[in-house]
Amino acid sequence: MQKSIKTPSRGQWGSSFGFIMAAGGSAVGLGNIWRFPYITGQNGGGAFVFVYVLCVLLIGLPLLLNEIALGRKSGRNPVGAIKTTGGSKFWQSAGVLCVMVCFAVLSYYSVIAGWTIGYIFTELINIPIDFEDFVQTPLYVIPLCMIFILMTIMVVLGGISGGIEKAAKFLMPVLFLIIILIAARAVTLPGASAGIEYYLSPDFSKINGKVILSALGQAFFSLSVGWGLMITFGSYLPKNNNVIRSSGWIAGMDSMVALMGGLMIFPALFALLPGVSPDEGPALVFNVLPRVFDQIEPFGNIIGGMFFLLLLVAALTSSISMLEVPVAYFIDERKWSRKKAAWTIGIAAMILSIPSSLAAVQGNFFNKMGFNFFGKQISGFFDLMDFFFGTLAIVVICLMLSLYTGWIKNVKEYAGELSMGSASFEGFPKKAWIFFIKWICPIVIILVLLNMVGVFGE
Ligand code: PHE
Repeated sequence: MQKSIKTPSRGQWGSSFGFIMAAGGSAVGLGNIWRFPYITGQNGGGAFVFVYVLCVLLIGLPLLLNEIALGRKSGRNPVGAIKTTGGSKFWQSAGVLCVMVCFAVLSYYSVIAGWTIGYIFTELINIPIDFEDFVQTPLYVIPLCMIFILMTIMVVLGGISGGIEKAAKFLMPVLFLIIILIAARAVTLPGASAGIEYYLSPDFSKINGKVILSALGQAFFSLSVGWGLMITFGSYLPKNNNVIRSSGWIAGMDSMVALMGGLMIFPALFALLPGVSPDEGPALVFNVLPRVFDQIEPFGNIIGGMFFLLLLVAALTSSISMLEVPVAYFIDERKWSRKKAAWTIGIAAMILSIPSSLAAVQGNFFNKMGFNFFGKQISGFFDLMDFFFGTLAIVVICLMLSLYTGWIKNVKEYAGELSMGSASFEGFPKKAWIFFIKWICPIVIILVLLNMVGVFGE
């Protein structure tokens, strides 16, 4: 573990471990345990998991390093990073998009986190709850979401280093333990093998353009790549930090938790709820897991309550970092105080969260709205936000950032930035990274985008 070199003006991570925990805390969140299983279910199971792992290794990891390089080199927020490295207004717009994405996703991410708060209590008190009834009751979900955003604001007001970093260091390992426990119970249920097979044996005929886009989008969502988050966090890194090793840890932790998330859900789904289809969407985890906890004797409800509590913590370490990006932007570029920035953006996110909360209510305007985007049906305000901000915008940002460092700037400088503190990066890994940033990442992303707008037909 290395000590930081102090610079007078800007904060820095105290240690590699602190950075890995903070960035890992951002990466590990609802994206792993709530979003990954249902996106896997909507995209045919094992084949999706296979494509997902490739996306993380071949596209996600190089882009993660790209953002960290940009952040550490410039020492700024996403907009400032492109400005100080000499990017034109056009390239700066990628930074602006980062700020918007973090804000927009925070608004609907908090809705799910609010459900999690509700489920902590229903599990602990052991009230059987029908998920449909629960989310259809605005009087439950809206206040719970507001409480979650308020918690996020409180932490961001005080800065991230002290309390939350300490808590994350303790709580993340506990989260791992609980996940392993639940997955172990799920895979040993009678009838679980159908779920394991669905989840882990890929049917390659199911791979198509939509599956690849979803896998790529999910990889970016889960790794916190394409949000400017790693630029912001990278800007607090000392030059002697081994960013290659740190990134390996972040991506490894994130992928492990996602894969385990699926291992909790699918075996249990096939064993306990044979009638429920794996492609039912965002409700999946909330429908399936409480029934797994019912099967755990004794203390199933306590384990259930603990699970949702830890899910809440994972969501909070992510939402804090999401709020931190727009806050850092307004502090750096608009000279707002931290207090003004955190409250203003937080309250705005509360307001924007209301239509997402209402999108779960049948017959509501926000539930009914929707349209067809080049053959992809988007229904409800929630889906709309998740598609435009949580998937499409992130993919566009990743494309712009790889073109920026790969072609507009001298990519070797950024590769050099990465090898500072990580000597093992010299040689082949460095050449490979340059090749991926210049060619593989942009080409794959462009193909995926073209496919989405129907250029290659159905
Ligand atoms: N990676 C987080 C998750 O998987 C989401 C996130 C993205 C959080 C970007 C912060 C910034 O839930």
